[in-house]
Amino acid sequence: MTGLLEGAVALVTGGSSGLGRAITLRFAEEGAKAIVVADLQPEPLEGGRPTVELVEELGAEAVFVKTDVTRSDDVHQAVEAADQFGGVTSVVTSAGILRNAALFDITEADFDRIMAINVKGTFLIAQAAARSMVDGAREGSIVLVSSIGGVRASGLNVPYGTSKGAVNLMGFALGDALAPHGIRVNVLQPGVMNTAMTKGVGLEELGWKVALNRAGDPREVANGAVFLASPLASYVTATALLADGGIANLIG
Ligand SMILES: NC(=O)c1ccc[n+]([C@@H]2O[C@H](COP(=O)([O-])OP(=O)(O)OC[C@H]3O[C@@H](n4cnc5c(N)ncnc54)[C@H](O)[C@@H]3O)[C@@H](O)[C@H]2O)c1
Repeated sequence: MTGLLEGAVALVTGGSSGLGRAITLRFAEEGAKAIVVADLQPEPLEGGRPTVELVEELGAEAVFVKTDVTRSDDVHQAVEAADQFGGVTSVVTSAGILRNAALFDITEADFDRIMAINVKGTFLIAQAAARSMVDGAREGSIVLVSSIGGVRASGLNVPYGTSKGAVNLMGFALGDALAPHGIRVNVLQPGVMNTAMTKGVGLEELGWKVALNRAGDPREVANGAVFLASPLASYVTATALLADGGIANLIG
């Protein structure tokens, strides 16, 4: 622990599982004072103990708030839960879903669900948290979790790529809108990471060359989130950090 996030009051959507869980735990290791875990359920999809229990063992305060990010009432409750710790200063939006499906198998309902969670849910959280920060005169950071799928297009998941492309531009636009308030907004673009989301999806199946020739560990993306949320990134806003083991810029 180096205390990079000393005193932060964080809100992490999707914080029960996978990348959001790893980010939450890294934030606690870096001295975050308190973390609100906003997710559909407290149990990790990959199994194991609830994130809040592990955060508390690391010495930070933690609260789970049952949140469907597509519902504004839930979103406001999650943001308000941070008020008991002094108000949110650091947000990470990791709640998201992936559905790989051939183009003609995708239904209108599939498309709407992916856009609702990945795009609208990200917007609702960012907007509500930013409102709280501005009203409380608190500067801070928002990190939107996008994907390599929003950088390199794949015919395997057209709606997912579309949603993550939208998240990229949302992050840049929010960075512009919130800079006058001292709030930095950045996008984190993971490559193929070992979580419940990618269980059973082989690198070969995706047809992507990964320079480092392996999937990533969630902590390797969490380190990027720590950097973007920390004072080390004080001059970094409205941009994206790729943590993809070297996929996006390679041929083949
Ligand atoms: N795993 C990867 O390879 C990978 C790569 C690039 C980007 N991502 C992105 O990273 C983020 C996290 O992915 P992950 O691999 O940790 O997935 P995951 O499935 O392991 O975890 C996602 C979490 O989001 C929660 N969630 C889903 N819908 C929600 C909703 N409506 N409201 C609140 N919470 C909800 C789930 O309950 C779960 O705890 C996603 O946005 C995903 O698109 C993942």
